[in-house]
Amino acid sequence: VVIEFEGLSDSDKELLIETTIKQVLKDKDKYGSSNEGKGRTIVIEMSSPNIAKTFSVGHLRSTIIGNSLSKILEFKGYKIVKINYLGDWGTQFGKLIVAYKNWGKEKELKKDPINYLLKLYVEFHNKAKNKPSLEDEARSWFKKLEDGNKDALSLWKRFREFSIKEFGKLYEILGINFDEYSGESFYENKANKAVEELKKRGLVKESEGAEVIELESHGLGTALIRKKDGAKLYLTRDIAAAIDRYRKYNFHKMIYEVGKEQTLHFKQLFKILEIMGYKWASQCVHVDHGLYLDKDGKKLSTREGKTFSMENLLEEATMKAYNIIQEKNPSLKNKDKAAEIVGVGAIIYGDLKNERKRDAVFELDRFISFEGNTGPYLQYSYARASSIIRKSKKSPLIPKKIPEINDFEVKLAKKIALFPLIVNDASKNLYPSAIASYAYELAQSFNEFYQAVSVIGSKEESF
Ligand code: ARG
Repeated sequence: VVIEFEGLSDSDKELLIETTIKQVLKDKDKYGSSNEGKGRTIVIEMSSPNIAKTFSVGHLRSTIIGNSLSKILEFKGYKIVKINYLGDWGTQFGKLIVAYKNWGKEKELKKDPINYLLKLYVEFHNKAKNKPSLEDEARSWFKKLEDGNKDALSLWKRFREFSIKEFGKLYEILGINFDEYSGESFYENKANKAVEELKKRGLVKESEGAEVIELESHGLGTALIRKKDGAKLYLTRDIAAAIDRYRKYNFHKMIYEVGKEQTLHFKQLFKILEIMGYKWASQCVHVDHGLYLDKDGKKLSTREGKTFSMENLLEEATMKAYNIIQEKNPSLKNKDKAAEIVGVGAIIYGDLKNERKRDAVFELDRFISFEGNTGPYLQYSYARASSIIRKSKKSPLIPKKIPEINDFEVKLAKKIALFPLIVNDASKNLYPSAIASYAYELAQSFNEFYQAVSVIGSKEESF
């Protein structure tokens, strides 16, 4: 967004700045919000990690970007429903059940559930290389699970609960909550109905015993929806979930915050919903994000062959923040708490400042620095601004006339005047980075102003 201040006359500029300042004082933290979304619901599906697997950086991006979008859209007056669509169903559970039943150890599972389940999964694949019958066993256990076998269900439930508990720790650190946890398993039965509906509409073809939807004419290949053995797929469950959510929420928009590697999947999904005759298919959007790379341009999901744990990452960030605080401000009270806020904030902002579609480089040391375009720099600016208000002990009044203002104030006021437009931009394009860049520039203008102009004790402090 560009506002051409240059073309305005001096008196227009003054008027713009004056109205902006008055508006801010009047609206306070509602400044820039609107009721554009009044009476409308936006469903945001975000995070959606997979049970019995590690929470990946991709899931972290989805969580952070999805949450930011939820705040931006809420600010525009929409009612937001945040859904965590857990990957809690699929053939891998057959494998896990077999592995656990044959050589699993309860004690180890309890000690470190997700890593242990991962280990079992890897072991399953290694053993199955020499003993292919394990694969058949796994298929038959997954079938039992689908058919509601008690034994299978109870193991699956435990794996699921362990995972949810682990993920919950992360969400707590990140300060994120969901309105609904409904995973793929929830749509298992509904997926059968979806297949029947697709058949009734004549959209399903048979192909070597499996059931497919031909999307070749739309340039989207062939979509498999039911395998030869009757097992349904990720896509089939997504079809059922979308239909169900529209019935439940009558959404104005449904956002899927998922990595760009799933672009084809979502194109197929939306196309299928469209040819099923659902007009609201056009209200579904895949809000994608790029990969996180390490400094050498490699994918970050595995580091030195090991899986990259989010909890360790957040801990590392907090520790680094602690060390910086210790160096800069050793007498600070509540250093632990401050370090957590700075560490977690650094990771959140480090992500949000990137244009989400692009791949980004993950560099913790840069994210955590107090200089440059970083979370800690913004937090530091915010703390300074807050301290002015605290020290002043006067609440800002709406002035009748704004006194003559200097260049630093003009620059800052111009920036502030842009805020509602930036929010608009970010919400229209579903781009949190628009707000992030703006926040950085605003902090810069503020810090320039703060260094140059004295506020407390000046004659304009209150009028
Ligand atoms: N659980 C999936 C994964 O980790 C992401 C789910 C995305 N959402 C969806 N509706 N398909 O890859």
